[in-house]
This record gives sequence, C-alpha cells and structure tokens, in this order.
Amino acid sequence: MTRTLITGGLVITAADEVHADVLIEHGRIAALAAPGTQEWTADRVIDAAQKYVIPGGVDAHTHMEMPFGGTYASDTFETGTRAAAWGGTTTIIDFAIQSRGHSLREGLDAWYAKADAKCAIDYAFHMILSDVNEHVLKEMDLLVAEGLTSFKLFTAYPGVFYSDDGQILRAMQRAAGNGGLVMMHAENGIAIDVLVEQALAEGRTDPRYHGEVRRALLEAEATHRTIQLARVAGAPLYVVHVSAEEAVAELTQARDKGLPVFGETCPQYLFLSTDNLAESDFEGAKYVCSTPLRPREHQAALWRGLRTNDLQVVSTDHCPFCFRGQKELGRGDFSKIPNGMPGVENRMDLLHQAVLDGHISRRRWIEIACAAPARMFGLYPKKGTITPGADADIVIYDPHAEQVMSAETHHMNVDYSAYEGRRVTGRVETVLSRGELVIDRREFTGRAGHGQYVPRATSQYLS
Ligand code: URP
Ligand code: ZN
Ligand code: ZN
Repeated sequence: MTRTLITGGLVITAADEVHADVLIEHGRIAALAAPGTQEWTADRVIDAAQKYVIPGGVDAHTHMEMPFGGTYASDTFETGTRAAAWGGTTTIIDFAIQSRGHSLREGLDAWYAKADAKCAIDYAFHMILSDVNEHVLKEMDLLVAEGLTSFKLFTAYPGVFYSDDGQILRAMQRAAGNGGLVMMHAENGIAIDVLVEQALAEGRTDPRYHGEVRRALLEAEATHRTIQLARVAGAPLYVVHVSAEEAVAELTQARDKGLPVFGETCPQYLFLSTDNLAESDFEGAKYVCSTPLRPREHQAALWRGLRTNDLQVVSTDHCPFCFRGQKELGRGDFSKIPNGMPGVENRMDLLHQAVLDGHISRRRWIEIACAAPARMFGLYPKKGTITPGADADIVIYDPHAEQVMSAETHHMNVDYSAYEGRRVTGRVETVLSRGELVIDRREFTGRAGHGQYVPRATSQYLS
C-alpha cells in the first residue's frame, strides 16, 4: 500500500486552518505535522504549496439514473461519480427508491445492483418511501440496523412519491424509535396539482409556470406542517432542497424553539433564480426542478441561514436530464418536463466562489459541504474531515486558478451546464479517495469500481 505525503498546503477543516504536512498510510490519514518538522518517507509526495488541502466533498443528495417522468437521469453511477470526483466530491449519498406496491428491500437491492462496481468514489444510500404501510415500517428498522439510516418522504408528487400526513406521522414515529432520520421534500403537492391544472387550462404552458404554480407559500406550508408532525412523533426532521425565504423562516422558528430540525439548500437556489426559468425558446426547461428556483430576493435568506446555521448542509440534488430529448418532453406542457438539474461537479467550486464573494467563511465552506453532511448522515469522522484515522479523501484545491463553467468542459453526462459561462476562481487540482489518486493534476486516474458502499451510523447531530 502506497505511503503518500502531502506537503506545504493550508489544511482547512470545519474547525481549523493550519499549514501542515499530511501523511497517508493504508488509505487513511496517519498524521499531521507542522511543515517540514518530520522526517517522513513516502512513495509519493504531493507538493501543495500555495494550495488548500481540504476534505473531499460529501454530497448528501444525488439521483444517479433516477427514473422520473418516463425517463431516467442521464448520469449513471459511473459517469456521475467520475464527474463528482472532478468537482472535488469524494462521497455521494444517493437515493434508493421504493416503488409503489413493492418492499424497501426490493428497491434497495435494485440500487445496490445499479451502483455495484461502477462508482469512482465512495457512496451510500438514503431510501425513498413511496408506499408507507405496516410492512414498510418494520423494514425501516432492518435498514437502520444494516446502515441505511435516513428515509425521504414527499408531500409532493401525488400518485408517485406522495405520502399523506398519516403515513408521514407513522414513518416519523418509527424513526423516533429506531434512530433513523426522516428527510422531507416539503411542498403541498395536492394544492400544486390544482394550480398546474388551472395554468395549463389557461394556456400557461412555458417552463416559467413551473416556478409560478409551485408557490413559496406551499413550500412554507408543507415545511411548517411536517415540522409539527415531527414534533408530535418526537422525531428529528431534515428538510431537503429548501429554496423559499418563507420555508427558511419556518426552520428558524423551529430551531429557535430548540427542536431537532435541520435544513439543506442547493447551489441552484443560491446562484440561479426565476430569471433562468423565464429564459426564452424553452431554455427555461434546463432549470426546472422541485422545489423550484425562486426570485433572486430569496437568496439573501438562504445565505443568512447558512451563516446562522439555520441551514446546515449544501447538497446538489444532482438529477440531470439532457435538454435535447429529455427536457423537451415538456414542450407545450411544463408539467411534463422531468424535474431535476445537474450540479454534482460544480458544488465545491461555487461554494468556494461564495467564500470569495463574502457570503461564508472558508471554514464554513468546508463545514456545509463536507463535515456537516458527514455528521448529519453518520459518516463522520471517516468522511468530512482531515484527522488521523479518517479516510484519506483529500482534495488539493487551487484557490487562485480561474475557470469558466461550461458543458464543453464539464464531465457530467448532460448536454448543458446550468452555469454556462460563469467565471469562478478556484479549481480542484488533485483528488485522493482512500489514499488512491482519482484526479492527478487535472487528469482522471480513477476507475469505475474503486468506490465502495459505505454503511452509515445514525445521525451524529442526534447522539
Ligand atoms: O427536481 C428535483 N429535485 N428532482 C429530483 C427529485 C427530488 O425531488 O429531489
Ligand atoms: Zn425532492
Ligand atoms: Zn432530490
């Protein structure tokens, strides 16, 4: 097993920034020391002078190959995890899906098979519950025992993933008992479907109406309702892809009461807006996702939430569909546009740009992108930090390199970039996954099958 030494970089974790040499042995971090103070020998020395040495990103919300709206997300576990590595992410947590009428076991086994021997980086799963019944509630206990400790439920998408309040309450009660964490897609899908029907009947069919019918108040209402259900159940709650200022306010109010309520947002809500959804010639379809992009005025509340810790995690909700042939399914009817956007490769860079723009500090960058998602989902300190004993998932990050984001140069299997032409400062140079070079000075040196499935503990914010 190769012994690797990273010299002279600025090691940044959620807790510290310190110039240090980092020694890696057997795929783990063996030791850190002040630069040049140890006589360490190594098979491989990586010079990180003038660079940051940061933990590999943990993207806690991706959907590789997700079936949606009659098609599939265009990144496979192979292409999507390769792109993640290019973007400095070394662990993803994807969503296995329970189909209606089927067990959790069947869904999970299907997702194990999809990802097996394909991934370039380590991966884990959450489980989407689409059909909560007595059998499923019992299965939740078994999954927690086997290291799948989080369950996503939806108040949106009636007839597909939707659960009613009774089902949600039962799943939350079960999670309260078995230590699982309920993740909530919080939008009032029943009311949204009425507004969709009315919009289409009035000839409002363009992509921008996707944003208009999925009203911010309907995100806030579902956020409020599911927080109350979690209180009744005595369960913690993690609200995914928060986009509306009013929903952040619900989370803030709950947290001010001391409730174990957590929130995640995504780069698309921080950097894009309804202006993108309104792009002409159906280009707005590229930005159709749920919850939807909001008017840019909402962004300030999201940044504030990230600074005040009312929002703890930034994930991507990476769920790419090509513009040609996939997004186009919704020409003439925005409700048929597959929901989801690409971004797994862009998250670390966009958040670094947020550091330069003054929204967050460097350590907060690492906290929301690496440490907090690892803690939230029971992976810390194996993942999300740089400390002796942790997996050597490390990114050498050049904070001065400039790049222009583009579909021409990205590695995601999708024919557009949501950030086309955006100039950012900062770029991944080298990536190690468990001590193996996956990206070496901007060359892909990894392989499908290197990535391992990682069973998880229960959320470390609760214990
Ligand atoms: O539009 C989205 N977010 N697509 C992925 C599925 C989900 O709800 O997270
Ligand atoms: Zn969702
Ligand atoms: Zn999602």
